[in-house]
Amino acid sequence: MKQRTMFYCTECGNETPKWAGRCPACGSWNTVVERPPETVKGKGRGGTRIISVPRACPVTELGESEEIRFSTGMSELNRVLGGGAVKGSLVLVGGAPGIGKSTLMLQICGRLCEFSKVLYVSGEESQHQLKLRARRLHVESEQLLVLSETGLEEMIQAVSAEKPDILIVDSIQTLFNDALDSPAGSISQVKDCTMALMRLAKGENITVFVIGHVNKEGSIAGPKVLEHMVDCVLYFEGDRHTSFRILRAAKNRFGATNEIGVFEMGDGGLKEVENPSQMLLSGRPEDAPGTCVTCVMEGARPVLAEIQALVVTSSANNPRRTSNGFDYNRAAMLLAVLEKRGGLKLSACDAYLNIIGGLQLDEPAADLAAIVALASSYLDKPVPGDLTAIGEVGLTGELRSVSQLSQRISEVRRLGFSRCVLPVHRGLVPPPGLELLPVRNIGEAIRAALRG
Ligand code: TYD
Ligand code: MG
Repeated sequence: MKQRTMFYCTECGNETPKWAGRCPACGSWNTVVERPPETVKGKGRGGTRIISVPRACPVTELGESEEIRFSTGMSELNRVLGGGAVKGSLVLVGGAPGIGKSTLMLQICGRLCEFSKVLYVSGEESQHQLKLRARRLHVESEQLLVLSETGLEEMIQAVSAEKPDILIVDSIQTLFNDALDSPAGSISQVKDCTMALMRLAKGENITVFVIGHVNKEGSIAGPKVLEHMVDCVLYFEGDRHTSFRILRAAKNRFGATNEIGVFEMGDGGLKEVENPSQMLLSGRPEDAPGTCVTCVMEGARPVLAEIQALVVTSSANNPRRTSNGFDYNRAAMLLAVLEKRGGLKLSACDAYLNIIGGLQLDEPAADLAAIVALASSYLDKPVPGDLTAIGEVGLTGELRSVSQLSQRISEVRRLGFSRCVLPVHRGLVPPPGLELLPVRNIGEAIRAALRG
């Protein structure tokens, strides 16, 4: 039988029966090439192929092999991984360039080297640069091997020669398989290299950490296309201009995904922040109008955040509104509610909203604190230093309850606050030392918060 010629895209690997100037799957130009007819193994040549029938097995009959976890030496990272790294798993660490991915990986090497052999393969930095970085982070050990290499084949050979327990690849976008025609960083390259790393992890029982850059334009094939292939996906987030970093699990085959790890970038690398609320609240002004503290849930963890507002009489026809770390549309809505239901003449004012510490608040529970901060700035009356506000605000100015209230008020108390304005909620028992101020609408909330 005559084999049909197939065409495939060197960018994304999509197969088509007809040649095209532009790949119908990924839209790249001039990437579709002819694939020579494949010789199908095992068929033809007169012989019949003997295949063994795979046997599916009742789940109850399977033996239990415990997943083996080990600590990475950073409790914030362990927490996100679900209690430590799992042996033989493939973990993808994604994040914007410069956020601190290489730093995090090199830093955990220090602890991992104490009980295992680590191979750090970097396609981004030379061995000399890695040495300097390792010295700065104090992770010099004979058990830490560094290799500056971009070839996939060469890397696999180094792995079989050194037999490390842990492999770190920095980054998937620089790794390159010669057998493919597409350039490093293209979708087919990163997919192929990730498959090879998966085989290494499962076949040799090596724990593999892979770094992947994400960028806004998406021009480099990012971790998004790899999410389904790997065991764990962690994203490292934060504002490059502030030192606060959050590590979040987007996928975890061995644990929950609602945990976050908090770090601070400093001169000596990343430092774990065990008490994020305290760090975010440090330096809070006393008795200044226009600031209010709230409690948001970052994953399963309550975190206190300070919302600042500045309301000034506008000189322009179109008053200026900006919000930083707070959803712009949500802020516009709250300003409208405050004007219509709270009776404050905000349409003639410029309004600025800012969340301290580079935190992004995307939870409606922060509404009430934003309202209180705006009103406090408009009326030029400070919110007492021991008061917090939690709650969602509706369009009629009513207050709505939010989830995990008891966890939030415990955190509020733990950080030393003694009063909390919140929606009416039956059966909520405050922790000792915390006075609850239940309110039904924003008018009551502003009166309760700015009373004195
Ligand atoms: P890096 O880990 O190289 O980022 P990525 O691998 O995600 O691209 O971190 C880069 C930034 O971190 C760089 O701007 C400098 C800063 N940094 C520190 O502030 N302190 C340190 O000790 C180190 C190693 C880096
Ligand atoms: Mg890097």
